[in-house]
Amino acid sequence: MLELSFHDLVRQRRSVRKYLPIPLSKRLLTEVLEDAQWAPSNCNIQPWQVQIVSGATKDKLSAALKAEHLAGRTSEDFWFDHNGYSGEHLARMMHMGQARNEALNIAREDQQRRDAEMLRQFEFFDAPHVALLFMPEFGDCVRTAGDLGMYGQNFLLSLTAHGLAGIPQTLLGMHAGVIRDVLGISPELKMLYGISFGHPDPAASGYSVNLGREPISKSVTFYD
Ligand SMILES: Cc1cc2nc3c(=O)[nH]c(=O)nc-3n(C[C@H](O)[C@H](O)[C@H](O)COP(=O)(O)O)c2cc1C
Repeated sequence: MLELSFHDLVRQRRSVRKYLPIPLSKRLLTEVLEDAQWAPSNCNIQPWQVQIVSGATKDKLSAALKAEHLAGRTSEDFWFDHNGYSGEHLARMMHMGQARNEALNIAREDQQRRDAEMLRQFEFFDAPHVALLFMPEFGDCVRTAGDLGMYGQNFLLSLTAHGLAGIPQTLLGMHAGVIRDVLGISPELKMLYGISFGHPDPAASGYSVNLGREPISKSVTFYD
């Protein structure tokens, strides 16, 4: 366990896109899951249903996801269209894409490498585990999705505190139907996103980028 102040912990957490294929010990995995479980939720309903997928089942899932992606099919539970971003939000998204491509030395016109990187999303970036976050459907699901966000942040910060890393992936949620089929999950549970996680590959450079954040003046308004 790293001895990090909270100040350092939140700043050191990064979305890492390259892992060593070494599974976590049962003890480490349980510690991370126990930490995540302490997330707050509306009325303490604790709606998260988390599927931890590893080993041969992960390989089977990866093959099914890649086939779906290459066939251009999706089966998401929750609609997502990043083309809807505009203004400063679109600018931040563009900056993220550029920073990531620059770090990996991928030219804008190099569609082949961009496609290959995209496929790696469905290989879970070689991570030994992926957590798939499902939830029951209540009303418009917005509050419940917020609860799953709280869970995810606890999960990610716990990984960082343990010297591990994870990457949240909405892209996995775009294939919720296929994931349900492969894992045999009830259609009553809806999938929001996944988190691939494990030991980050220390030899890999460019697979995590410090994107920085806007000053708080951009997002906080004070009233006296
Ligand atoms: C809910 C959620 C879903 C995300 N989905 C993806 C994804 O599908 N693929 C991906 O490469 N990154 C994904 N990300 C990672 C973001 O791009 C990343 O958090 C953001 O660029 C900030 O970088 P940082 O996490 O390293 O601070 C997701 C992040 C969140 C919170």
